[in-house]
Amino acid sequence: MRLAAVCRSLLLVGLALVGCSDAKKPRRRSARLTPFHREIQPILDQRCVVCHLVKAPQEKLVLEDSHTPASLVGVPSKQSPLRLVEPGKPDKSYLLLKLRGEHLARGGKGKRMPLDAKLPAEQLERIARWIRSLGSKGLGSKSLGSKRR
Ligand code: HEC
Repeated sequence: MRLAAVCRSLLLVGLALVGCSDAKKPRRRSARLTPFHREIQPILDQRCVVCHLVKAPQEKLVLEDSHTPASLVGVPSKQSPLRLVEPGKPDKSYLLLKLRGEHLARGGKGKRMPLDAKLPAEQLERIARWIRSLGSKGLGSKSLGSKRR
């Protein structure tokens, strides 16, 4: 009888602990994501990684979150003399020119990205804002390499 009661309370404590850690996890994770991984990576996941994936990246550009944003920031474009992302300078970032369809006029090659429908204006503006924000932080920023701060 007493043993059963002890077992029951241990079980309850166990369940309570599991409940607590589950409840806290998602909030902590999203709070620690960098602005890039919160706001930009979801666009890449939805529209780009199908072709720019680790296994067989088109134009050798990987846009999966294991490689971004290091695969973009300060990295020379293979199609033009520009860098894919020039910190602080959206208008000199080949990535954004390619998404706006302005890349040919700036010495680039190939089609506008993504190949199907153009990204909505709000997403293009979000990417421009992220590139602009890199100017003040500089290339040494911790947000470049790892997913979390
Ligand atoms: C259906 C496949 C496909 C999708 C989806 C796609 N790409 Fe591409 N991407 C390509 C191909 C193929 C090339 C090379 C030919 C070209 O540029 O037209 C390329 C080239 C690029 C380049 C040039 C790289 C360099 O070094 O100059 C960039 C930048 C790029 N893609 C970004 C994106 C982004 C960002 C998205 C999502 C918004 C995207 N792509 C979606 C197939 C794709």
